Amino acid sequence: MSFDAVEVIVAKRDGHRLSDAQIDWVIDAYTHGGVAEEQMSALTMAILLNGMDRAEIARWTAAMIASGERMSFSHLSRPTADKHSTGGVGDKITLPLAPLVAVFGVAVPQLSGRGLGHTGGTLDKLESIPGWRAALSNDEMMAQLEDVGAVICQAGSGLAPADRKLYALRDVTGTVEAIPLIASSIMSKKIAEGTGALVLDVKVGSGAFMKDLARATELARTMVELGTDAGVNTVALLTDMDVPLGLTAGNALEVRESVEVLAGGGPADVVELTVALAREMLAGAGRPDEDVAAALSDGRAMDAWNRMIAAQGGDPSAELPVAKETEQVLAEADGVLTTLDAYAVGIAAWRLGAGRARKEDPVQAGAGVEIHARPGDVVRAGQPLLTLHTDTPERFGRAREALAGGLVVGPAGTVVANRPLVIDRIG
Ligand code: URA
Repeated sequence: MSFDAVEVIVAKRDGHRLSDAQIDWVIDAYTHGGVAEEQMSALTMAILLNGMDRAEIARWTAAMIASGERMSFSHLSRPTADKHSTGGVGDKITLPLAPLVAVFGVAVPQLSGRGLGHTGGTLDKLESIPGWRAALSNDEMMAQLEDVGAVICQAGSGLAPADRKLYALRDVTGTVEAIPLIASSIMSKKIAEGTGALVLDVKVGSGAFMKDLARATELARTMVELGTDAGVNTVALLTDMDVPLGLTAGNALEVRESVEVLAGGGPADVVELTVALAREMLAGAGRPDEDVAAALSDGRAMDAWNRMIAAQGGDPSAELPVAKETEQVLAEADGVLTTLDAYAVGIAAWRLGAGRARKEDPVQAGAGVEIHARPGDVVRAGQPLLTLHTDTPERFGRAREALAGGLVVGPAGTVVANRPLVIDRIG
């Protein structure tokens, strides 16, 4: 069935629901060039302003899935579980999590992306390991899943091509934030990928897409409904992103911290979230009673990591790159650190060279921010709070500007009420 694009735009502009046939047509026609960019841009703005109901979002997602290939892991001898984070600062959890879950015989196909803006990308982090390769063929990926049990690689271009086009358009038309569009974008790729179980880590706070809990909860519910309706065992954890995760933001810095976690150490919050997400993934794949923490302390997760990195050409024992220059940010007074703002740290790491401004820009493997104090810590004037790392020292000034107001030392005795890392669970 064919429609007039203007008719579809006007229907949504005037607050009507779109029919299944209208949605199927508009996604297909847009993917193939039959709906112009300016028309899709008007439609996405109408969706942002007027919303979509559950059935519309499900149909929109199905139409995006139908625009490309669907993968299947049904021939593997193991069940599959995947995790998706909506993105945050210092969020390196995928790195220890994938090998940890693989220890228990559950395959983890982690199709990941690169960083854009202030949040880092998993592939950029892993590419700081000498020799490691992000691009795998489907056959290589399947063989690694069967053999090692975990793979972190670049998503092929065949999954939900409608989303790729639409996401680029949303990025430049102020329509990224629409919950129906975020939910359908993420879930179309996850459903097309074919995982059996999916755990969503929906970040909330200054360093996240969703700054407030009500909207993050709505996004999580919408995605859980989409996954469940499509037969994927889906749950979501709402987790804090007012403060960066762990003590590092930046590519090689985050790999180093992940390896500490795999060696049974590492920052408490990174360990807590890794374990919480691993338990959810294992439960979703039918293995609810495994002793996850033991696999971090007894070396099994590290063994799986070494095999996962080596299978993609990486040398897990190679020295990681370090930045050529460092500078410290010092406490200006005695007192208690009351604020370590995730967004400010994310922008600083990005400006130091850990992230990119345009898709085609290179990143610096060693650049980023190392954190020496967390909210609630007592600090003394002159004590280092952060170390900034970069190969290009002219970047220090702009990074420091990003941190202005993001680090606050309050009077001695101030009690800091940090919110729990895992705020809620939906599913
Ligand atoms: N990640 C996605 O894949 N899509 C969105 O819309 C937002 C985050």
